[in-house]
Amino acid sequence: MVREIIIWPDPILKQVASPVGAVDGPTRHLLDDMAETMYAADGVGLAAPQIGVLKRVIVIDTSPRQEGQSLLHLVDPRIVRTEGTTVYSEGCLSIPGEAEDVERAAKVWVQALGRDGQPFELECEGLLAIAVQHECDHLEGTLFVDHLSSLKRELIRRRMKKLKAEQAEEKAEQVRGAPHHESAL
Ligand code: NI
Repeated sequence: MVREIIIWPDPILKQVASPVGAVDGPTRHLLDDMAETMYAADGVGLAAPQIGVLKRVIVIDTSPRQEGQSLLHLVDPRIVRTEGTTVYSEGCLSIPGEAEDVERAAKVWVQALGRDGQPFELECEGLLAIAVQHECDHLEGTLFVDHLSSLKRELIRRRMKKLKAEQAEEKAEQVRGAPHHESAL
């Protein structure tokens, strides 16, 4: 099921997510919903807090922009080693329409549990390394805008607040314009 993605600023996105511990049925269901939501939004990564679930769960699929990649499920991910630095123009499904240069490690090694509950370690380079760091940040309540100057962050915050106000207005219009008020529950 495609879930609603929470737009920044929102207090949920600032929370630290809790460890899962063991992958059970509900965790697999969450992973599947997250993958569906990520693909529906044309994203390459999504963290559970972005759909309002404060669990350490992320999905990544950089294959549209990186060769040899496919869908990755990471439960309780932990970056255990980093190497080098790189700058990449990052966006975020919770901050639509915005992109800014962020400095990250060029290469990371991440340990996590897979969808099958088995632990694995993955060496990540290129966009995948960026995505792993960006999504792990979400689990700590950190967004890419937190890596920017306060001036840039405030400009983006203003644009996002305007966007959210417009979305709320559109929703209100839809309710007002709904032809069958009596069936609205
Ligand atoms: Ni993001």
